[in-house]
Amino acid sequence: MSNNISAIVASQVSLGGALSVNRLGYGAMRLTGEGIWGPPKDRKAALAVLRRAVELGVNFIDTADSYGPHVNEELIAEALFPYPRGLVIATKGGWNRPGPNQWTHDATPAHLRKAVEGSLKRLRLDRIDVYQLHTPDPVVSFDVSVDTLAELRNEGKIRLVALSNVTQEHIERARKIVPIVSVQNRYSFADREWDYVVDYCQKNGLAFIPWFPLGAGKVAGEVLNRIAQEQNASPTQIALAWLLRRSPIMLPIPGTSSVEHLEQNVAAASLRLTQEEFEELAAVPELVGSR
Ligand SMILES: NC(=O)c1ccc[n+]([C@@H]2O[C@H](COP(=O)([O-])OP(=O)(O)OC[C@H]3O[C@@H](n4cnc5c(N)ncnc54)[C@H](OP(=O)(O)O)[C@@H]3O)[C@@H](O)[C@H]2O)c1
Repeated sequence: MSNNISAIVASQVSLGGALSVNRLGYGAMRLTGEGIWGPPKDRKAALAVLRRAVELGVNFIDTADSYGPHVNEELIAEALFPYPRGLVIATKGGWNRPGPNQWTHDATPAHLRKAVEGSLKRLRLDRIDVYQLHTPDPVVSFDVSVDTLAELRNEGKIRLVALSNVTQEHIERARKIVPIVSVQNRYSFADREWDYVVDYCQKNGLAFIPWFPLGAGKVAGEVLNRIAQEQNASPTQIALAWLLRRSPIMLPIPGTSSVEHLEQNVAAASLRLTQEEFEELAAVPELVGSR
């Protein structure tokens, strides 16, 4: 793999006018044990992935208190603290983790407050740059959850507030309470339920962070493979290039536990799809993975 791979070439996206990050980030969720639970199989390798990401110019890392739980944030601090200038760590809260592959809602004010305090401690920060409500809690008023994050922002514990797994209505309601800088929903060229939210974000200057940008590593199909061959790239790189072309506010955070895959993913920042390739991929239903 050549030495000039860099996340810097894909241009930057603004987070609420307060911060700018390179438009290829890294999602750290995969650096935990099976079922997003417990420590990684190979701790040294996990730390190496995080360090290599930063070396490659990645300056936006996505995590959550629920990944591990706690393990993911601890690994980030172990690998990267003291953090290099300009590195933005975006974490989230709103889930409890009773066991491997189990996720139960809790976006009550008490839980979110405790979650923010825990993340601050594990990440060794005085203030979290970007804090995302991981998902609305069906038994808690959405406005009450967002209010709590707004309070934590006023208290100086969070710099910027963001959302995940939300509709346009949620975003509009939240923006009446506090400025929202980004939205993180499931999205890839093959998984476009949230197309209208991408458009909304673009129109309103919010960043859109697609999770499962590689369909959990399962994006595949004839058109994708053909374009990959023509571009002398891998199918996963083409999936990322499609996202980068979809909108200037798109901030993909492909996840991987391998330095080799990380380098491939970051190299996708240099690929350019033609309008024809972009449209062809957009028109074809392809395979999408699951968690
Ligand atoms: N907000 C939410 O509710 C939510 C939900 C899910 C995820 N997320 C965030 O979004 C991030 C991205 O999602 P994700 O990691 O679940 O899925 P993803 O990025 O779509 O795919 C990750 C999978 O693809 C494989 N992969 C990555 N690069 C590859 C490459 N170059 N070639 C072949 N396989 C490759 C990885 O395996 P290897 O480890 O073998 O590379 C891993 O299994 C997460 O890390 C997390 O931060 C958020």
